[in-house]
Amino acid sequence: MKKIKVMSVFGTRPEAIKMCPLIKELDKYPEIENLVCLTGQHKEMLQQVIDIFGTEVKYNLNIMQPRQSLTTITSNILEKIEPILVDEKPDIVLVHGDTTTSFSVALAAFYQHIPVGHVEAGLRTFDKYSPFPEEMNRTLTGKIAELHFAPTENNRNNLLRENISENIFVTGNTVIDAFHITVRDNYIYKLSQLQKIDTRNKRCILMTAHRRENLGQPLFNICKAARHIAEEFDDVEIIYPVHLNPSVQDTAHKVLDNIERVHLVPPLDVEDMHNLMARSFLVMTDSGGLQEEAPACGVPVLVLRTETERPEAVKAGTVKVVGVEEDNIYKSVKTMLTCPHVYEKMAKAINPYGDGHACKRIAQAIISWHDSKY
Ligand code: UD1
Ligand code: UDP
Repeated sequence: MKKIKVMSVFGTRPEAIKMCPLIKELDKYPEIENLVCLTGQHKEMLQQVIDIFGTEVKYNLNIMQPRQSLTTITSNILEKIEPILVDEKPDIVLVHGDTTTSFSVALAAFYQHIPVGHVEAGLRTFDKYSPFPEEMNRTLTGKIAELHFAPTENNRNNLLRENISENIFVTGNTVIDAFHITVRDNYIYKLSQLQKIDTRNKRCILMTAHRRENLGQPLFNICKAARHIAEEFDDVEIIYPVHLNPSVQDTAHKVLDNIERVHLVPPLDVEDMHNLMARSFLVMTDSGGLQEEAPACGVPVLVLRTETERPEAVKAGTVKVVGVEEDNIYKSVKTMLTCPHVYEKMAKAINPYGDGHACKRIAQAIISWHDSKY
């Protein structure tokens, strides 16, 4: 019997965290030949994830450059992946989410008439410049894709609005599957800076911020609000793993270096990150993934953006969008620290991103789609 050749292609940290559990799952099916190609849009931050999940990688396009532009990412991927697609001729290429890797790879596969499966399909803000360029990346990827793995019903409805109606599978988000692999009760942090913080007894605020539209003044405002909180609350520890983007590094260190109770740490590997998150009091972030993960362990999320493509989380009450103005961020964090009833309501709300079995649903959908074609 000819196997179904599935080539998963991804390039950044969040894609890897959400795709590696799926690759593990695909390995279980004898009818699937499982291939992985990295674009290398990220380097160190990607390798950390690959190492932890022990994912076997066949190709790496290694495209990352310091302070890379969207155009160089796109053009390098298109050029470098073409010979691999021509040579391997996969039955399906899987891409994830909304990065420039996702869109460029989908386009390259389309040029070779190779069907694309889109994992984490159907997220939308319907504002093409926010988040930028992710909203356009995921919309165009959705247009190209033949199979759509939507985390929620709401994501499915977004696709229907765009007249995409075939082969949509509501699966939950694979990040919840990842979380079940990484979080352990007796976990000991690998990073020595984390070992020194009393994360079980202090109120820890885990903070991340990296989005392109937040670079500059918004990130400056976010960091100043964090500094204000650390100066006012002496039982709070703020832990900020700083993204390797030099623009993020510059602002974070300028505002937050040498502030008592603020810990600027390097990007954490996903086990340290998830276990720290599970022990945190609160998450403040502009990340997408954290809005799905933190509520899975009862940790409320304040979203440092003006919008979110995760309205089901807002509706469920697990996350709150607080914008990028210093005063509003400061007041919102303060409310969480001082009003137990507000805090408890968010902490106890039900996370809408699934039951940790998304990967299984995706694998089975790929097999039945393939069987129905041949
Ligand atoms: C990318 C994605 C964004 C996603 C984010 C996850 C695009 C356009 N953006 O944004 O959707 O939320 O990844 O983190 O696809 N760098 C390193 N080492 C690394 C990674 C990055 O040094 O391992 C530095 C490089 O200087 C690089 C810069 O960070 O040029 C920016 O990386 P890039 O992938 O272009 O943008 P992100 O902000 O990471
Ligand atoms: N993450 C991590 N280490 C860090 C920061 C984030 O492992 O130092 C994980 C986080 O738990 C989540 C994912 O990376 O699973 C989110 O990635 P990021 O914020 O870079 O991108 P986004 O979700 O915004 O696309």
